[in-house]
Amino acid sequence: MKLWGGRFTKETNQLVHNFNASLSFDQKFYKQDIEGSIAHVTMLEKQGILTEDEKDQIIAGLSGIMEDISNGSLSFDDEAEDIHSFVEAHLIERIGDAGKKLHTGRSRNDQVALDMKLYTRDEIEEIDGLLKTLLTNLYNIMKDNTKTYMPGFTHLQKAQPVTLAHHIGAYFEMFKRDRSRLSDTKKRLNLCPLGSGALAGTTYPLDRAYSASLLGFDGATLNSMDSVSDRDYLIELLSDLSIIMMHLSRFCEEIIVWNSNEYQFVEIDDSYSTGSSIMPQKKNPDIAELVRGKTGRVYGSLMSLLTTMKGIPLAYNKDMQEDKEWAFDSIDTVKGCIALFTGMISTMSFRKDVMEKSAMNGFTNATDAADYLVNHGVPFRDAHGIVGQLVLFCIDNNKSLLDMTLEEYKAISPVFENDIYEAISLETCVSKRNTIGAPGTEAMNEVLKLHEAYLAE
Ligand code: ARG
Repeated sequence: MKLWGGRFTKETNQLVHNFNASLSFDQKFYKQDIEGSIAHVTMLEKQGILTEDEKDQIIAGLSGIMEDISNGSLSFDDEAEDIHSFVEAHLIERIGDAGKKLHTGRSRNDQVALDMKLYTRDEIEEIDGLLKTLLTNLYNIMKDNTKTYMPGFTHLQKAQPVTLAHHIGAYFEMFKRDRSRLSDTKKRLNLCPLGSGALAGTTYPLDRAYSASLLGFDGATLNSMDSVSDRDYLIELLSDLSIIMMHLSRFCEEIIVWNSNEYQFVEIDDSYSTGSSIMPQKKNPDIAELVRGKTGRVYGSLMSLLTTMKGIPLAYNKDMQEDKEWAFDSIDTVKGCIALFTGMISTMSFRKDVMEKSAMNGFTNATDAADYLVNHGVPFRDAHGIVGQLVLFCIDNNKSLLDMTLEEYKAISPVFENDIYEAISLETCVSKRNTIGAPGTEAMNEVLKLHEAYLAE
């Protein structure tokens, strides 16, 4: 059944129908569509626009449709144009005339705007839950590794020693911000477009605030033209999702590097690795690579929707139907990626011995050696030069700073004494860094307390 056959004298061309139809993808929010319709008729009855009996019949009919779709006894055919037509047609088929009143004071334009907001809101909740689980896993790794030393890098060159807790803690901050971004997006989207009609409201005495409250919105939107053509919240969501993917992708990149034969900082569990069809020795980090790769899809959706929206005049235009596949694909992609990533990282083993050895061997304590000299009255710039000479000596003699004898130190600067070894041990280098946010155990424990409270919220 078509919702708009009256003024037409010819059948729609089949290819036009196929090209125009959205049921194949907007069936994804059938629950939200029905939920919105139930709120709409509840409001219509309260306002005296429908009788109680009509309302009851419609709600019973809609609930039956919801149930039948959920249990698979009602399936989507190719006939309906979209989920809205599908549900309305089936309602009329089931309850007759009362069903024809469902769409009173409503357009598909405010309906689809509502459905998409409801769907997005539900999905934001889910993604937030997945991020929280990921954060809990990261927190556990951090707690166990406040004294696991590893090199910290800049330019992918060993820089200064940090701990695994500190390194993982950087990602903890990123995913925490991601949650807060999602919650901002939700706050801004949470105004209800229902009752905006096609673009100019309706002549019925609707109580928009009431339907908004039935659906858990903070209120009704204030401009009906904007309401039916606003897709800002989807662009915001796709941008939030892109940033989440960027974070996951950076993390995956590190894991791929750490898991390489050269680094061996970590070993991805067999259950999260794959093999090669030709090289029997291979164990590949495919999951991390795929997450990194799928980032492109999500960025693509963001750029696509931005581009689609840029030239659309007010108010509703069919271009906007394109928002759905990008949003759905990105939401599903991100949910899958967070879940897989969480599984991968929580089963991965960290080779603490290798990390620590690597931190010992890359002059990551050179800054601390310079600080030692500064503490003995040498100006920093001179200290920098002296330690540069030490490093050169070590490279020439294939040693680390800790392997040098005191005589060798003194030959370069007489300021060095026996306490230099203690001053540049990994443990000292890290534990002395105790300003908040630094890797020192005291500072880290304070941050961990804050994280614990945050996760308990
Ligand atoms: N399937 C449409 C969409 O997703 C529903 C709104 C149709 N409105 C219209 N005026 N044709 O945007």
